Amino acid sequence: MKVKTDKKSDGGVLAYFLLKEDKIPADVLKLGKISKDEFEGKLGKTYSTATLGKMKAKRILLVGLGSKKDFEPDFVRRAAGTAVRYCKSMKCPKLSIALPKIPKVSAKSTAQFITEGAILSNYKFMELKTKKEDYFDVSQASILTSDKSAEDGVKTGMVLAEAQNYTREIDEYPANLMTPRKVAEIAKQLSKKNKKISVTVFDEKAMKKKGMNALLGVASGSAEPPKLVILEYNKGKKNLPLYGLVGKGITFDSGGISLKPSKNMHEMKYDKTGAIVVLGTMKAVAELNLPIRVMAALALTENMPDGKAQKPGDVVKAYGGKTIEVLNTDAEGRLVLADALAYVAEKNPKAIIDVATLTGAIVVALGKHAIGLFSTDAKLAKLLEESGKRTHERVWRFPLWKEYAEMMKSEIADIKNISGTGEAGSITAAVFLKEFIGDAKWAHLDIAGVMDIKNNHPYLEKGASGTGVRLLTEALQFISKK
Ligand code: BES
Ligand code: MN
Ligand code: ZN
Repeated sequence: MKVKTDKKSDGGVLAYFLLKEDKIPADVLKLGKISKDEFEGKLGKTYSTATLGKMKAKRILLVGLGSKKDFEPDFVRRAAGTAVRYCKSMKCPKLSIALPKIPKVSAKSTAQFITEGAILSNYKFMELKTKKEDYFDVSQASILTSDKSAEDGVKTGMVLAEAQNYTREIDEYPANLMTPRKVAEIAKQLSKKNKKISVTVFDEKAMKKKGMNALLGVASGSAEPPKLVILEYNKGKKNLPLYGLVGKGITFDSGGISLKPSKNMHEMKYDKTGAIVVLGTMKAVAELNLPIRVMAALALTENMPDGKAQKPGDVVKAYGGKTIEVLNTDAEGRLVLADALAYVAEKNPKAIIDVATLTGAIVVALGKHAIGLFSTDAKLAKLLEESGKRTHERVWRFPLWKEYAEMMKSEIADIKNISGTGEAGSITAAVFLKEFIGDAKWAHLDIAGVMDIKNNHPYLEKGASGTGVRLLTEALQFISKK
């Protein structure tokens, strides 16, 4: 979908987003009176009519934003999603949206949120369907305004939403098609397209040489070779501050020898979401040309059981030398992250953020409405909380008290990979990761609850959500302005 700003609608559907307090626009009233029962600006409620040749636009759509006092910026994305879905149902490829005036939200931000909602709601994964007839693409959205600042908002919104859709597409592919090798190839394609991103791929041999045995232990039961993909944005620009991103990339998590139950096991194709979110973030950061350096590590492998697979009780030595007792092979995310975090931490970044579908326990705690946040740094946590509010990819912070770290001490190694108590599962996973970050400022995002959409969502179809791309990119954008 192309999004641009324009002065007037040039056909198709013309949409107005209205707060309860707003008046119905005069050009709509010219078509006839609309009674309060038909439209009163309630959140998500719509009114539509054909213009029957009385206006350049073929159809008018009103979308309610609710009352001023209850307003949230995400309602703008939702209204854009409603408008795009209406266009799809009318098989109308052209949409114009009058830029609404919203108290306390700039025209630039409003235009950005409309753009995001429109592009995100237009996307549906169709790559594996041989017949595409049940798909209709809205090809153009124009935001009607004379405010010049809206153009910048549209640009940012396009970069963010397209990066999120890029992540959704890669993440949706199943494990037989999206292997660690395939993800490494896609990372190379990204760097080919974007000269500011360079890529290095560590294969098994390179990882063995470096002593990345935690990741290799997880990979040992798999026929597909693991990869550690390192992406660097603005590499060599030593005057720019360096940030680290790390993503969990389990392309399929069967649990390994600690095998998962078969019900819903297919969802574990999404266990690579963290890595793919990081990949999408690198794309967005490069396209926005942010004045920072970023090193990203994607820890990619399957977690499978076989004769060579890692066994409960095994002890592995991670990158940097710490020993880990693997008491449950299904707690594999923290193992692959241990090597990747230690590697990135060694480069002394200003901060490291890791993203992982790490624990089922975070879904128990927060459901599908928030990302679990764990951080050693109050400022970094605040930054992510603020970015979460703006992007509506909301985060909720948990503690990392030393009592939790005590729970992860092993009898025979430096640390064990599960506490064995079944208590505070998301926090014990986080304190495990903390062992591998050295002195770095660090935040961990547990995205297990938000990796996919299961129910109706106002602007995302069912399937991989790409949640985290906008959160991280906006956070890095904010950092680079300081
Ligand atoms: N990938 C899973 C976590 C997960 C669960 C993600 C549900 C998305 C939805 C992770 O590797 C895992 O298996 N965690 C275990 C940890 C346990 C063995 C301590 C879990 O949450 O059960
Ligand atoms: Mn697992
Ligand atoms: Zn997993």
